[in-house]
Amino acid sequence: MATHPGGLTAAARPAVVNPDGKPASGDVTAVSVRDLIRSFGPKGVLNGVDLDIAPGEFVALLGPSGCGKSTLLRALAGLDHDVRGSGVISVPERVSVVFQDSRLLPWDTVLGNVTLGLQEHDAEARARKALAEVGLAGREKSWPHELSGGEQQRVALARSLVREPQLLLADEPFGALDALTRIKMHGLLRDLVAAHRPAVLLVTHDVDEAIALADRIVVLDGGRVATIRTVSPEVGTAADAAGHENLRRELLTDLGVAAVSH
Ligand SMILES: Nc1ncnc2c1ncn2[C@@H]1O[C@H](COP(=O)(O)OP(=O)(O)OP(=O)(O)O)[C@@H](O)[C@H]1O
Ligand SMILES: [Mg+2]
Repeated sequence: MATHPGGLTAAARPAVVNPDGKPASGDVTAVSVRDLIRSFGPKGVLNGVDLDIAPGEFVALLGPSGCGKSTLLRALAGLDHDVRGSGVISVPERVSVVFQDSRLLPWDTVLGNVTLGLQEHDAEARARKALAEVGLAGREKSWPHELSGGEQQRVALARSLVREPQLLLADEPFGALDALTRIKMHGLLRDLVAAHRPAVLLVTHDVDEAIALADRIVVLDGGRVATIRTVSPEVGTAADAAGHENLRRELLTDLGVAAVSH
């Protein structure tokens, strides 16, 4: 249990796992947030956020620009020591964060960026495996500036997954990519999450991205969780086209946007 300045109490809690590495049944949450309050000066941003994420669950976070999505993500990542606030946050031990820009070190190679900070003797082998998983085998010696934006984000994903996180926090990771690359990245992220089973909190502005990837979609508004909607597999894959369109409309209404048919 660690106490942050500003009254924030963050409890790092390892997920309960069976010998086979799968979460034990009955392990209640990977993430638990209670009554989280954050303000910048006199401006209140988060006004009592409650949120639970189950082990292996994929949650998308939607909300109007400036509503506090990144503030919530930074709080979960423990990256907001300079912010005033209160509340209780419980997260697993191993947390990885991916941002909109890849934040690769320009002076290190792709492989160097993925192994950065890893102490284990097999770090390089694991990094090579992670790079292969994101489709970048053979690019280990490349420099970040030699990669496209999508490739850089794939390196960022490899860097986060090589640490085998129990929680992956992603703040608009595909926001700067073109539409086609973004769709390819959705498929990649889906495969990676299925293989590694971290709990995921994905901040996005894209309602379709949220439906395609998430098990549950949380809409943040007015500093609180305004709505939570569950996405069935049939709706997520659009096998249930009517259900998919319905959810899309509901979410756009939640966001205060008039729905336009596809
Ligand atoms: N370091 C800071 N200092 C002062 N105000 C801040 C700071 N960081 C964020 N804010 C304010 O807090 C509010 C929430 O910001 P946040 O970045 O969490 O929004 P967001 O929901 O992620 O928005 P977007 O969708 O545009 O990324 C905004 O009004 C923003 O101006
Ligand atoms: Mg943001």
